[in-house]
Amino acid sequence: MTQRLFYPSFLSELRVPTRLLVVDDVPQNRTLLERMLSAEGYTVASAPDGEIALRMVEAEAPDLIVSDIDMPKLNGIEFCRRVKENPATRLVPFILITGLADRANRIAGIEAGADDFLGKPFDSQELKARVRSLLRLKRYTDELDSAESVILSLALTIEARDPYTRGHCQRLAAYSLLIGERIGASDEQLSALHRGGYLHDVGKIGVPDAILFKPSALTHDEYELLKRHTVIGDRLCGDLRALSLVRPIVRSHHERLDGSGYPDGLKADAVPLLAQIIAIVDEYDAITTSRPYRQALPPERAFDELAKDVRNGLLNPDLVDIFASLGPETLFQTAAEADRLAASMASA
Ligand SMILES: [Fe+2]
Ligand SMILES: [Fe+2]
Repeated sequence: MTQRLFYPSFLSELRVPTRLLVVDDVPQNRTLLERMLSAEGYTVASAPDGEIALRMVEAEAPDLIVSDIDMPKLNGIEFCRRVKENPATRLVPFILITGLADRANRIAGIEAGADDFLGKPFDSQELKARVRSLLRLKRYTDELDSAESVILSLALTIEARDPYTRGHCQRLAAYSLLIGERIGASDEQLSALHRGGYLHDVGKIGVPDAILFKPSALTHDEYELLKRHTVIGDRLCGDLRALSLVRPIVRSHHERLDGSGYPDGLKADAVPLLAQIIAIVDEYDAITTSRPYRQALPPERAFDELAKDVRNGLLNPDLVDIFASLGPETLFQTAAEADRLAASMASA
């Protein structure tokens, strides 16, 4: 009944059936699981071992996987680990079938990322209840994912409003990843930098065009309004768990180490590291691309400016050094690649 709230009736015919994958090397178990689950209205596919199952998952991710552990070729734990390691499939709920007393396998399963366990022999009520609750969770995370893509398209819409900033998001994402890799950032931090490149200015959606594109200098009040894009963007990213590491970038990419930035006037280490990286590449990109009021300047000139900001205590010297050490050739190629990506996204 609650499901109806999420899917208005006129959409119900459009809903794709829920697809489950059952993996077990014992044919009788496979058939039993298939029968129990198709009786619930799910579309059920099956595989006799982890290797075949993994290929099926990679070809088309199911909505949920139920897998045995002891299987030839690729066992259930390893299969689970591979599914959970792949960013494209890591959110697919995974139920591992273990003996109830099988503590070692349960621990290995938890480490591999399994979402739930099912004891043998199967209790059909228990199986149905677990599948239902994991699918409910999956629907929720799917909605979060689509909420994230709404924010991303907002960010690209803002970029598209200003022809001079074409490719800015893609270049920022690419430059900041290069710095992140050099400083040994974690996978989560790298993914936050990538998203941050796209989303840092998403809050400009709340700033009037008359201010964003004003050809002359902004008045004090107009500038105060423009500054609010950081806070608006932070609020837009809201409680999306996927964006928790991105929010500090969105909020703090105009902070400067001497406390002269906005919106919070943070100082030194209080400025989040990832926001410091985006601040540097944001300034570099602004200088090396054409704007209505001036031509693009070469990378050397941009690095002169960044060095000046380092001397004045605004930017992090180590991060600027690392960025400069990438060399003009790498930066040029990175920008060209990002521009190609921007052009293909714009025509998509
Ligand atoms: Fe900004
Ligand atoms: Fe920017």
